[in-house]
Amino acid sequence: MRRLCDPTDARRLLNPGPVAIVTTTWRGISNAAPIAWCAPLSMQPPMVGIVVHPHRHTADLIRFSDNFAINIPGPRLAKQTAFLGSLTGLNNNKLESAGLALFSPLSIDAPLIEGCLAWIECTLQDVITIGDHSLFVGNVVKVQADDEAYAQQWLLNDRDDSPLTFIGGNRYAVVGDPIEATFEVDISGALVAENAEERERREEEEAARAEEQKQEGEEGLAQKRRSESDDHRSVF
Ligand SMILES: Cc1cc2nc3c(=O)[nH]c(=O)nc-3n(C[C@H](O)[C@H](O)[C@H](O)COP(=O)(O)O)c2cc1C
Repeated sequence: MRRLCDPTDARRLLNPGPVAIVTTTWRGISNAAPIAWCAPLSMQPPMVGIVVHPHRHTADLIRFSDNFAINIPGPRLAKQTAFLGSLTGLNNNKLESAGLALFSPLSIDAPLIEGCLAWIECTLQDVITIGDHSLFVGNVVKVQADDEAYAQQWLLNDRDDSPLTFIGGNRYAVVGDPIEATFEVDISGALVAENAEERERREEEEAARAEEQKQEGEEGLAQKRRSESDDHRSVF
């Protein structure tokens, strides 16, 4: 059944995507905030966008310093990510309170967070007001990634090496079970939903499931009979 949702649900339905921890620095003081609304914007030149509410301290620090870093955490940093999103860095050194270790960026000022899976350094290209948020457009100047987690694609060999995705509220997820989507078309160019090999595999799986259910049913019946006869014995 289809359910009509509130228009504001659009934002949640576009998740999960990797949640970025955006780091900034200004006059020697650094800050960090999780930002779930982020997207690639251009391939050549490489540009990315992060959408930040203008009241966030992060928004001011990006405007003052003209640069920011996107740190991509895995599930090991879920607690720290939620913590950084729970308070402003205006009067707090959140990075210190979160116990996060930092390392030096290659090209910009904003520090990078140890233990993340990837790091994108950006200089500020533009700020565009969109509704009640601002889109900060960044020129990508350096990208680093943990080679166990990423090699031109997320490898997903280990749960801890998956980018952390934000679902909403206090819920996060890891990306799992990658699926390869190769397809064939028929003579008229229409998609072949299932080829012969796939049909055979599906039928085998269905038969195995049916057999499993039948066995479970038989075992359940046998157990029921046993317990009924136990009941009789206990009565007599
Ligand atoms: C998982 C998560 C994702 C968030 N995504 C965004 C976002 O995309 N844009 C935004 O403006 N705030 C977002 N926030 C809220 C800010 O991270 C939060 O207000 C933070 O405390 C701001 O810190 P700052 O004032 O030090 O910049 C998010 C919070 C969490 C926990």
